[in-house]
Amino acid sequence: MRSTWSFYTAGQLTFGPGAVRQLGEMVSRRRLSRVFVVTDKTLVQLGIATRVIEPLRSAGITMEVFDGGEAEPSISIALAAIEQARGFQPDAILGLGGGSNMDLSKITATVLGHGGSPQDYFGFDRVPGPVMPLICVPTTAGTGSEVSHAAVLTDTENEIKVSTLSNWLRPTLAVVDPELTYSCPKQVAADSGIDALTHAIEGYTATDYRELATPPGEACAYEGSFSLGDVIAEKAIRLVGENLVRAVNEAKNHEARDNMALASTLAGIAFSNCGVALVHALEYPMGGALHCSHGAGNGLLLPFVMRFNLPERKEKFAKIAELLGVKGSPDIDTMAELAIESIEQLKRDIGIPERIRDIGGTEAHLPTFAEKAFAIKRLLWVNPREASLDDLHGILKSAL
Ligand SMILES: NC(=O)c1ccc[n+]([C@@H]2O[C@H](COP(=O)([O-])OP(=O)(O)OC[C@H]3O[C@@H](n4cnc5c(N)ncnc54)[C@H](O)[C@@H]3O)[C@@H](O)[C@H]2O)c1
Ligand SMILES: [Zn+2]
Repeated sequence: MRSTWSFYTAGQLTFGPGAVRQLGEMVSRRRLSRVFVVTDKTLVQLGIATRVIEPLRSAGITMEVFDGGEAEPSISIALAAIEQARGFQPDAILGLGGGSNMDLSKITATVLGHGGSPQDYFGFDRVPGPVMPLICVPTTAGTGSEVSHAAVLTDTENEIKVSTLSNWLRPTLAVVDPELTYSCPKQVAADSGIDALTHAIEGYTATDYRELATPPGEACAYEGSFSLGDVIAEKAIRLVGENLVRAVNEAKNHEARDNMALASTLAGIAFSNCGVALVHALEYPMGGALHCSHGAGNGLLLPFVMRFNLPERKEKFAKIAELLGVKGSPDIDTMAELAIESIEQLKRDIGIPERIRDIGGTEAHLPTFAEKAFAIKRLLWVNPREASLDDLHGILKSAL
């Protein structure tokens, strides 16, 4: 049992349209002069990399670009980024892209700072100290990786996502320029947007920090829910409710995209302090095996996990309904149920797969998904309702 909570985020967070134009000055002020940029070919082709590189070049900073990032990157891609970075000998790493590239940049900064290989740091709190100075610039809205303590890779051999979690992975500098998300195709906007909603909801409804009990000798990667996290998560959920459908279906609606960029960063701050839980636990093996995007997998599972958690979180679910714009009913039970239904509707409005069979899953997959999810204890600890292996199997069956 705990009597305190702590709060962490990026060292500096700068938000707003055009923010990347300040990058040269921000980096020079930190006396950094050799920046290794981790990105992907799509972002280079779209000219987004240039929008980040130009201000740095004008400030006299030397750069090298790794453009080998891929969605849901594997360990071998991380090794390639690390090898190229070692050759360049940077004094800072800049991750430009969605969660995939930002997470690659975090692993690169870790291994360049401490040696070894990515696998040495998987799990919670295995990074021994500060990593190489890390700058993250998101281009999706989004994972919140620019403020979070997580980096996720795909272990292709074991068909599962693997996380490195450490407060040393919070970037020194996070620059969130919503203009960089304007070119996101509809599906990327939908998948990453519902990931942000999942982060906010899982953080908001996580086990209360005072009740978060971990086995002796085991540290938890999250604090559980607490006041400051609640305030931030509520704002994120409201922004998603007001903006996600328009941001996805009206690509030129810059106001909606700007607001989603803010929502995803706020959701990242909330979840990376309070926690993510069963949705993420079940998505890691499911996404690893069925190769759906992280956001689509989370969005698919979210209402099913909420239905399981409902008895433990009626009041907060009722508040979520209100934040998502559901017109009020005085009855908490009704409102809590409406929260789930409004998310089911949201999924349909933006084109998130409804069921596991829609992404190629079968009954035969479910026992393995349940077992692998059940092993990710840090995510189960913060789930508001205790879940047995059978419960996990039951949730997956309901989602099949
Ligand atoms: N570190 C964390 O805290 C955290 C949190 C959640 C998810 N994740 C991880 O992040 C990854 C998912 O990240 P994501 O949802 O941001 O997507 P992503 O980074 O995988 O990108 C998806 C695709 O969109 C393209 N893209 C990105 N920005 C674009 C833009 N502005 N215009 C056009 N195309 C663009 C990319 O090139 C890529 O092909 C997963 O690996 C997931 O596990 C990490
Ligand atoms: Zn996520």
